[in-house]
Amino acid sequence: MSEEERREPGLNPGKSHKISPIAIANEKTDEEFIRDYIKPSQEWTTWTHPLTEKSYSLDFLSSHDLTKDDFRTCFGIIETTSGADYKNSSVGWHPGMKKKEMKSPDLRYILVKDDGGAVKGFTSLMPTFENHEPVLYCYEVHLLPELQGQVPSLLSIQLSGLGKHLMNQLITIAENIPSTKKVMLTCFTSNLNGLKFYEKLGFTKDDFSPRDRTLRGGKVVRPDYVILSRGTAHGGLDGELDDELKGMN
Ligand SMILES: CC(C)(COP(=O)(O)OP(=O)(O)OC[C@H]1O[C@@H](n2cnc3c(N)ncnc32)[C@H](O)[C@@H]1OP(=O)(O)O)[C@@H](O)C(=O)NCCC(=O)NCCS
Repeated sequence: MSEEERREPGLNPGKSHKISPIAIANEKTDEEFIRDYIKPSQEWTTWTHPLTEKSYSLDFLSSHDLTKDDFRTCFGIIETTSGADYKNSSVGWHPGMKKKEMKSPDLRYILVKDDGGAVKGFTSLMPTFENHEPVLYCYEVHLLPELQGQVPSLLSIQLSGLGKHLMNQLITIAENIPSTKKVMLTCFTSNLNGLKFYEKLGFTKDDFSPRDRTLRGGKVVRPDYVILSRGTAHGGLDGELDDELKGMN
C-alpha cells in the first residue's frame, strides 16, 4: 500500500482512508523531510561565498524549533531587506501579523549561518494547497546585503548564487513531494531586483496572480504584488489527486 493510501482500521471499515501527499509532508519530522524530499546525497548544508571564500552552514528546521534569537534575527532581516516595500504597499507593514505568520505550524526554515552561528539569511517554505492545487509555497527568501549578488556579472564572475542555491532546494523539495504542481511565491512589483532574480530562475506570473482592475471612471488600478510560480518537471502528475483530496491539508 502506498503512503498516500493508508488504511485506518477504525475508520470506515473496509474502505481505505486517503491522506494527501501534502498532509503527509507536513506530518514529517525535519529529519524525515530532509531524507525524503531534499535527499541526503545532495550537498546542500554548506555554501561558500565565491568572492570572500567564507563558509556558511544551512540549517533546516520547523518554525517551532527556531530559537528566540534566530526568530528575532529573521524578522529583522525581512524588515531590513523588504520593510520599505511593505510600507509603500497597500498591504502595509504589520510586525505582529508578520511574526504570527512566521510562526505558522507547517512553516519550515532553511537558515544561513556564518561560522559564528549568526543568521545572515534564510528562506521559509510550506507544502500547501493554493486554489485546490498542491504547491510548495515559498514564504520568504532574504539575504543580508553582504550575501546578495544581484548585478549580473559581465566578467562571468559569480557574485553570490546563494539565493539561487536556496531556491534550488525548494525546487528539489517540490519535485520530490508527490502531486506537487509548482513552487509559488508572492513578490512586490516594486521589488525589481527580486522580480529579475525570479525571472532568471524560470518563474513566471501565475494564472492566479491578481489582475489590473478598471474603476468606473476608467482609472486602472494595478496590484502592487504579483504571484509567481515555476512548475515541477512532472507537473504534479506523479501523484495526481482525486477530487476527494483536493483542498485538504
Ligand atoms: C533576491 C535575493 C534572494 C537573490 O539572491 P542572490 O544571492 O542575490 O541572487 P543570485 O546571486 O543567486 O542570483 C541568481 C541569478 O539571478 C540573477 N539576478 C539576481 N538578481 C538580479 C538582478 N537584479 N538583475 C538581473 N539578474 C539578477 C543573477 O545574475 C544570477 O544569474 P545566474 O544564474 O546566471 O548566475 C537576494 O538578493 C535578497 O535577499 N534580496 C533582498 C530580499 C528580497 O528581495 N527577497 C525577495 C522577496 S520576494
